[in-house]
Amino acid sequence: MWRNSMTHFGLLARAFHWGMTLLIIVVLLGVELHELFPKGSAVRGAFMTAHFQGGLLVFALVWVRLLNVLTDRAPIIEPVLTAGKEKMSVLVKFGLYFCMIALPLLGVLDMQAADKPLTFLGLSLPVLIGVNPTMAHDLKELHETVGNFMIGLILLHVVAAFWHHLVLRDTALQRMLRPR
Ligand code: HEM
Ligand code: HEM
Repeated sequence: MWRNSMTHFGLLARAFHWGMTLLIIVVLLGVELHELFPKGSAVRGAFMTAHFQGGLLVFALVWVRLLNVLTDRAPIIEPVLTAGKEKMSVLVKFGLYFCMIALPLLGVLDMQAADKPLTFLGLSLPVLIGVNPTMAHDLKELHETVGNFMIGLILLHVVAAFWHHLVLRDTALQRMLRPR
């Protein structure tokens, strides 16, 4: 039940996948919606806090998820993917994991360089960079660019999931759902 079977991802993999999907949606809504509220307002602050804390939680959890990926063989897709589609799917997955690691790191570097140190669930974080306003500006830009790139990757990933299910009619999406 916890581990992957030949046909379906196990409960652990599914809980991680759908839990982290929800968490990343909260992270993205937090940063997109904060703009709607005036600077200095409590709601704007709360949306950004959701962005920061949710993003750091993604960073903490992604390692456990990667350990799970490396120790539990993924269920097979039927019919088997062509080599080109297989390569594309590995590339997108790699990109998603890369963003889940790089974005929180860039976020923390940006905040520390901008002299706005933050805590994670009340714990102070190691200092990775000294105060440097020019660097902070560049890091913020880079974080935003990679963040928007990740939104594109997620959209591609979701369209691909439905395309596999509805057009190719293979078991790619079914594997990530509860077995019937
Ligand atoms: C999975 C984690 C994360 C994702 C997907 C993510 C994504 C994004 C996106 C899409 C934007 C907006 C880009 C734009 O407006 O064009 C953004 C902005 C920002 N993020 Fe993140 N981020 C993550 C984690 C973090 C963390 C952990 C921090 C801080 C420690 C952080 C700090 C910021 C800051 C300061 C901004 C600029 C907000 C503004 O003033 O407009 N992010 N992020
Ligand atoms: C924030 C949103 C999402 C992120 C970051 C994300 C990330 C990922 C990652 C990293 C994997 C690879 C799992 C592994 O290594 O075994 C994966 C697999 C998968 N995801 Fe998502 N996902 C998201 C949303 C969704 C949504 C909304 C759907 C469905 C509509 C979906 C469907 C799937 C399916 C079917 C797989 C298995 C594909 C395969 O093994 O090739 N994902 N996802």
